[in-house]
Amino acid sequence: MTDLVVRRLLVDMERPIPRHWCGGDAFRTAFMNALSMSFPVGEQFFIDAVREGFKALPPDRQARFAQEVQGFIGQEATHRRLHGLYNEHLERQGLVNAWGPRALKRRQLLDGLDVRHALAATAAYEHFTAILADWLLHHPDTLGDHAPRVATMWLWHASEESEHKCTAFDLYRALGGNEVWRLKWFRRITFFFITDALRQTASNLRRDGTFWRLSTWRSAWRFLLGPGGLVRETLPAWRAYKRADFHPSEQDAQAAADWLARHSDQYQPVSRAAG
Ligand SMILES: [Fe+2]
Ligand SMILES: [Fe+2]
Repeated sequence: MTDLVVRRLLVDMERPIPRHWCGGDAFRTAFMNALSMSFPVGEQFFIDAVREGFKALPPDRQARFAQEVQGFIGQEATHRRLHGLYNEHLERQGLVNAWGPRALKRRQLLDGLDVRHALAATAAYEHFTAILADWLLHHPDTLGDHAPRVATMWLWHASEESEHKCTAFDLYRALGGNEVWRLKWFRRITFFFITDALRQTASNLRRDGTFWRLSTWRSAWRFLLGPGGLVRETLPAWRAYKRADFHPSEQDAQAAADWLARHSDQYQPVSRAAG
């Protein structure tokens, strides 16, 4: 089982954030902001799926998950709250969140279905967040130095995503979730995640007035597809999920552990799930 610590981040997210906080770069800022816009709805969905999945386990199998589930819920609830504050700043900047409401409508389609559907979807999203998190932790310069507290928030969130990447996956397996549906949901979530992220990024750029600048698309190319770029470097990890013997723990979590160890002055543990 995974030992998950819930941490209170000691950064002030009440203060407004600069318009191009991500290294002064319009594209990278718009992309990271798009991800943030998905979190309050997305992370509530993950919390609910994991909580319901846990309840569906026979009592004698709950003990193995009890503290891990509590840690998972605590971490995601903390992320939701801080990204909620972050997103309020984006709203004041004139950006409009279409991803959140669209995801909310979509999740209603799962109401009343076997909880393993929501868990398989959560496990797939958690794979996406874990590989993005690991990439970010290996490329912290992406975030620039225009807004250190926003960068700290992203790296703290990334570290915790890396820490709790097994929870939904293990619950899905513990509930007898099969390979066919695990992969079906992975394909669906891959489609939703990519199209939602691109649509929201484009919307953010249009409202920011930087959509038609050549520099925006040069940066997009470098950031996503250039050497060391996000898509190029995370593709093997994305593909690994399709293997029948895949388990999220095979992905290295050292970068997250290192960041948390080096930045212990940036947070306070608020609870600890005993190992
Ligand atoms: Fe999260
Ligand atoms: Fe997560």
